Amino acid sequence: MNNKSIIILAAGAGTRMKSTTPKVLHKISGKPMLYYSIKESLEISDDIVVVLYHQYERVLETISSYFQEEIKEKKIKFVKQDHENYPGTGGAVMNITPAHDKVLVLNGDMPLIQADELKKFDVDATIVMSVLNLDSADGYGRVVIENEKVVKIVEQKDASEDELKINIANAGIYQFDTKFLLEKLPTLSNDNAQKEYYITDLVEMAINENKTLIPLEVNEENFKGVNSKVELADAEVIHQNRIKKEFLKQGVIMRLPDTIYIEEGVQIEGESILENGVTLLGNTKIINSHIKTNTVVEDAILVDSDAGPMARVRPGSELNKTHLGNFVETKKAKLNGVKAGHLTYLGDCEIDEGTNIGCGTITCNYDGVNKYKTIIGKNVFVGSDTQLVAPVTVSDDVMIAAGSTVTSDISSGELYLTRAKKKSISGYFYKHFSQEKK
Ligand code: UD1
Ligand code: MG
Repeated sequence: MNNKSIIILAAGAGTRMKSTTPKVLHKISGKPMLYYSIKESLEISDDIVVVLYHQYERVLETISSYFQEEIKEKKIKFVKQDHENYPGTGGAVMNITPAHDKVLVLNGDMPLIQADELKKFDVDATIVMSVLNLDSADGYGRVVIENEKVVKIVEQKDASEDELKINIANAGIYQFDTKFLLEKLPTLSNDNAQKEYYITDLVEMAINENKTLIPLEVNEENFKGVNSKVELADAEVIHQNRIKKEFLKQGVIMRLPDTIYIEEGVQIEGESILENGVTLLGNTKIINSHIKTNTVVEDAILVDSDAGPMARVRPGSELNKTHLGNFVETKKAKLNGVKAGHLTYLGDCEIDEGTNIGCGTITCNYDGVNKYKTIIGKNVFVGSDTQLVAPVTVSDDVMIAAGSTVTSDISSGELYLTRAKKKSISGYFYKHFSQEKK
């Protein structure tokens, strides 16, 4: 552990993504692809160099926000490739001095990579290179093998007719002896179809010098590269399945798991149930709770609670022993032992035990400029179609009559009622519509 350096290549333009967003910032399960390469790398290295170029500032800023501590500890560094003069995967690793004797080179567009698989590169050789045995190696560099020995890697664009038929592909991940890498990089040439400096040419150099070269067959799924939106979608399906399988193994019940979306970082504990169509986003934590059909929970905590079907629990909501029914929306709502069965908006509020929120209740938390808080105590009965105009505080043991607009604080024991006086004109309906017909 921590005995090798890692270089992550993330400078490419990613033209095949057809996007203004840099390739490695496209998200899978809520986090940028590059996040995953770095996260797995941190499990095996304390010296990680990320090579950037296209939209350097934007990638740096986004990725830094996830790894502030490790950057401060200098476990992760960012460098800018001299792309104008030295384009290509070989150019990307130039001018880096790895701290350890061995250095693993990864691609930032491989979000399914796993630290356990990377540990398999722990072999003492000048180069350990990853190979894939595929039905078709289309798109990959081909590994030319003669007499059971690797001879070279040839890029698709440089390959001959015969070489294109080879089904052994270069997966694009390598472990180098650091001394060999630093010695040979200056000798790379760009004499090829793409006029780029290829890291793959180092393989032929090692062979020519009788150095040890070990081809390592790796799991295709873990090394899937993402170059297009199609591959991004495919990779996300695999990643989602991994997340859900892990929770299922821990004892979470899921109805139709294929319809459920759970972002990286979500925590689920205890006896929880997720019904079909549930979406759990951000830093959500679900403990012993039941999330019903088509409910969305984002950056919220639910303990011993249930929500939905079709509820939306938005950021900052903290629910404890609470029931939310259909079409209830909460935001920054601390609900402790509350029942809100239907069609309600509860934002910027604290509501305590035994309180019942009637259908159609709205906390009016925004005056167009600022947000204000609503505080409701214990055992309050909020009648249907109540508007609570914040800031407002309702004490314990209060009854609010249906249709009321609450504009001032209410003390314990009160009934609060605001209603327009009833008006009734008998026979008005018939008079009105018979006139209209004339
Ligand atoms: C590369 C390999 C190919 C292999 C394939 C596996 C070379 C020459 N070819 O091809 O043999 O089968 O990966 O996926 O290495 N990058 C930089 N700077 C650059 C160019 C690329 O940092 O100047 C980064 C990219 O951001 C990407 C990685 O290097 O993360 C690979 O580059 P890419 O252009 O995708 O290489 P491939 O053509 O796929
Ligand atoms: Mg690629």
